[in-house]
Amino acid sequence: MKDVIAELERRREAARMGGGQARIDAQHARGKLTARERISVFLDENSFEEFDMYVEHRSTDFGMEKQKIAGDGVVTGWGTVNGRPVFVFSKDFTVFGGSLSEAHAGKITKLQDMALKNRAPIIGLFDAGGARIQEGVAALGGYAEIFQRNVLASGVIPQISLIMGPCAGGDVYSPAMTDFIFMVRDTSYMFVTGPDVVKTVTNETVTAEELGGASVHTTKSSIADGAYDNDVEALLQMRRLIDLLPSNNRADLPEIECAQSVTDADMSLDRLVPDNANKPYDIKELIEKTVDEGDFFEIQAAFARNIVTGFGRVEGRTVGIVANQPMVLAGVLDSDASRKAARFVRFCDAFSIPIVTFVDVPGFLPGTAQEYGGLIKHGAKLLFAYAEATVPKITIITRKAFGGAYDVMASKHLRGDLNYAWPSAQIAVMGAKGAVEIIFRKDIGDAEKIAEHTKNYESRFLSPFVAAERGYVDEVIMPHSTRRRIAKALRLLRNKELSNPWKKHDNIPL
Ligand code: HXC
Repeated sequence: MKDVIAELERRREAARMGGGQARIDAQHARGKLTARERISVFLDENSFEEFDMYVEHRSTDFGMEKQKIAGDGVVTGWGTVNGRPVFVFSKDFTVFGGSLSEAHAGKITKLQDMALKNRAPIIGLFDAGGARIQEGVAALGGYAEIFQRNVLASGVIPQISLIMGPCAGGDVYSPAMTDFIFMVRDTSYMFVTGPDVVKTVTNETVTAEELGGASVHTTKSSIADGAYDNDVEALLQMRRLIDLLPSNNRADLPEIECAQSVTDADMSLDRLVPDNANKPYDIKELIEKTVDEGDFFEIQAAFARNIVTGFGRVEGRTVGIVANQPMVLAGVLDSDASRKAARFVRFCDAFSIPIVTFVDVPGFLPGTAQEYGGLIKHGAKLLFAYAEATVPKITIITRKAFGGAYDVMASKHLRGDLNYAWPSAQIAVMGAKGAVEIIFRKDIGDAEKIAEHTKNYESRFLSPFVAAERGYVDEVIMPHSTRRRIAKALRLLRNKELSNPWKKHDNIPL
């Protein structure tokens, strides 16, 4: 027995050393933690239960039979985040560059199966060189087995990917099918083919950072949902995100104690919207004054900043927030903003997270760039997402709700549950200038008449009351009471029941 225990200890120690001290030192020298260090930062202390520590690859090509390292480049298991179970796999770059062999893939698919069976979130920490080149098609098969499970788990359990080093080739597509991708600035990059291949095929000279660094994926491609300065910060932020999410699509929302009153009026909100309708203001101020303790976890903060998406809590329970941002492009809806918000709304709906929508939108962005880029289909994504969503939907129109964008932004007609407007709301087909120039075209040369028509249009249409008279808004509310109104509405809607007709799946305009 003693010998077996000694052997167990020896094997465990060998596995924990991964690719050896020199490679661990190299990992640290690059400012990166090792696979196991990352897990220990992410999970509650001493909660990690590791699986398959002794798994080795079965390859015999290129002398691989002589190079075997226990664990085979990925650490897998489960633990807890603030007491709630989470499955985690963490690529070990010190072992064959974290590359994926058949055995390595088997460890991940086993974990995916367990996460799905036990209905708990799964997070992957990526730092790897793609398919294990020595294994060929066996590695490709392994990737496809992972992808298949990503798809089956989608919408059932939250799946999160954190990119903490290289992530190339086959490694990119599993994250791409998860719910969220986050990156670490300067040390991580993601691309299908690297700079060398790019040079050969397209003759472009580009660095790894320029091709797929965090700055590219959080601002240009929108592949990543956020980026952090270092491993520790990124992992701690993932704990914060996990805390906000239900464990699966049938689980209750996580609920924490809320010390902040929901009945106190915030008088500063009465001054948020400027008198001049063309002046911007920061919608994040309203978001922060609505959610508990101003604690807002923003998703895609650096992309399509004309719309804001993210999670917060009201009375201790998670809500998803979608808000037009008047500070950027006047809060207009364009293709990027529509896609960004559509994906967010669908995530919330899949996991029964109520959606609070703040509306101040002058319409869809005109122009050839938008039309050629498919604005009709991208805009339709957001329309579709809101229309199919059955979760509680609370909408507050703070100022403009013009044209098709009025319809799209969780309007009453798309089964908005409670639709409120501030007194400053203007709900109309378009703004006064455009409207008057069209319906009074014959008077365009007559400044006096145009001024008169504009005044009439503004007083009749640029208010919340035309919509309120028709019941399209349920009530015109004082800005200072917004948090109270939302909290009350969320309480009312806790037992909301609504389902869509049976279908195999819908056909959202992709
Ligand atoms: C086997 C690999 C490997 C791989 C790295 N290593 N990538 N071993 N298969 N794919 C090993 C290296 O041999 C080295 O071993 C160690 O990992 C560290 O690699 P370095 O190159 O020294 O590190 P670095 O300079 O930091 O460069 C990291 C890297 C580079 C950028 C990731 O290694 C690289 O370009 N690797 C190949 C990437 C690639 O083309 N992968 C295949 C993609 S095709 P030692 O023993 O020296 O420490 C693919 C298709 C799947 O994935 C498609 C499915 C849909």
